[in-house]
Amino acid sequence: MKLTTIILAAGKGTRMRSDKPKILHCIAGKSLLEHVHSMSSGLGNNDIKIVYGHGGEQVRTNLKHLDAQWIEQTQQLGTGHAVQQVSEFLADDTTVLILYGDVPLLKLKTVQALVENAVDALALLTVTLEEPSGYGRIVRDEHQQVSKIVEQKDATAEQLLIKEVNTGIMAVNGGLLKNWLARLENNNAQKEFYLTDVIAMAVNEGVKVITSQPDNEDEVLGVNDRMQLAHLERVFQAGQARHFMVRGVTLMDPARFDVRGEIEHLGYDIDIDVNVILEGNINIGNHVSIGANTVIRNSVIADHVTILPNSIIEEAEIGQGCRVGPFARLRPEAKLAENVHVGNFVEIKKSTVAEGSKVNHLSYIGDSIIGSRVNIGAGTITCNYDGVNKFQTIIEDDVFIGSNSQLVAPVTIGKNATIGAGSTITQNTPQDQLTLARARQISIATWQRPVKKEK
Ligand code: UD1
Ligand code: CA
Repeated sequence: MKLTTIILAAGKGTRMRSDKPKILHCIAGKSLLEHVHSMSSGLGNNDIKIVYGHGGEQVRTNLKHLDAQWIEQTQQLGTGHAVQQVSEFLADDTTVLILYGDVPLLKLKTVQALVENAVDALALLTVTLEEPSGYGRIVRDEHQQVSKIVEQKDATAEQLLIKEVNTGIMAVNGGLLKNWLARLENNNAQKEFYLTDVIAMAVNEGVKVITSQPDNEDEVLGVNDRMQLAHLERVFQAGQARHFMVRGVTLMDPARFDVRGEIEHLGYDIDIDVNVILEGNINIGNHVSIGANTVIRNSVIADHVTILPNSIIEEAEIGQGCRVGPFARLRPEAKLAENVHVGNFVEIKKSTVAEGSKVNHLSYIGDSIIGSRVNIGAGTITCNYDGVNKFQTIIEDDVFIGSNSQLVAPVTIGKNATIGAGSTITQNTPQDQLTLARARQISIATWQRPVKKEK
């Protein structure tokens, strides 16, 4: 059977107190709606329709990459009214799955079960809560069959005691649903068109209602305020941390570890200290150690790499056996070959550093090509920018750059050359020679230091 998924996402989210529509708030750097969308994409043969409303323009601009049909609900007259907007696009012979854009942690496995149950029935996802307040209650008859859902505001005192609640998530045949949607009324406490009224209609028409439950109640929790957002962020991160540990990663503290992206490759015997953040596409080899307070974004880290604390690594490639940090910053297109050392307060941008080279202290390397076995002394700066244009610095194999040197690009330092400390190099230097570019040292015997006048 073909599947159509409707994601309800028109609500305002007043309690977020935000200019941003609720569904654009993020968990692990990804919007709530994208979480729901990517999970439902996993169902396959799935036509996704998103009902949007509040902050429509912002939502559409930010999420235009999503593969879905966008359907506007200009006025939010209730969940039933929201689904009615999609009615005209629903084929009779599809299964329709209804999800909420602000319920981000729902698992594929849970909705798969729901879709399977919907073959000859209305499948409803329910959950039993100690604190059911606010939710629609599942009313069952004497045979324990579901007879209807009553909303909190319409419930009798007796119904309010029911702890089994509606998650709002359901699946049912499209033809049946369209028929029921057309007959919804809003004569209830909130004067809204309730989607939940279709349950009683199904029962009246002899359509079976099958309920199922998620493995964990966090799966069906919605985000209404920033406390709930923070709670689900931690739930999500805890799940990722477990996944890392199962794969062979030691986390010094799983509660102080955040992944905001996709794992492309993850090796084993990886040690991760506290407060490490991994973002974007993550690719980490075996026997890697990552120090505290390190941020790694869209980078590739080969085997046996040690990253010392407080390093920021973005769109970089780090070869096998490298040592980076503490306090190193690798910016986009920094490429380190094997066994390179990059030390404290060193920034490397758009540069390649070949095997065995060292940039250990206080340096800026930009737009450069550095050969093998090069030693860059403390405080070396490649002057790559004239205020308008960027230029390249080439440092060939086995070069030694003395401390506190400036290499004014474009410039090439020949193979095995030595640059004297404190040099400002503006021209290409020959290989195998010592080049110095600074004033000769002199001493002035007659010089007298100024003295303070006595008052
Ligand atoms: C709904 C259910 C309730 C269930 C609860 C679970 C109904 C009538 N009630 O209640 O049984 O326990 O969810 O959280 O369905 N939305 C729109 N357009 C609208 C109204 C809502 O897109 O006109 C979207 C919201 O953005 C949200 C979702 O539908 O994502 C649920 O809306 P919400 O107002 O939170 O429903 P509740 O009244 O809490
Ligand atoms: Ca709600």
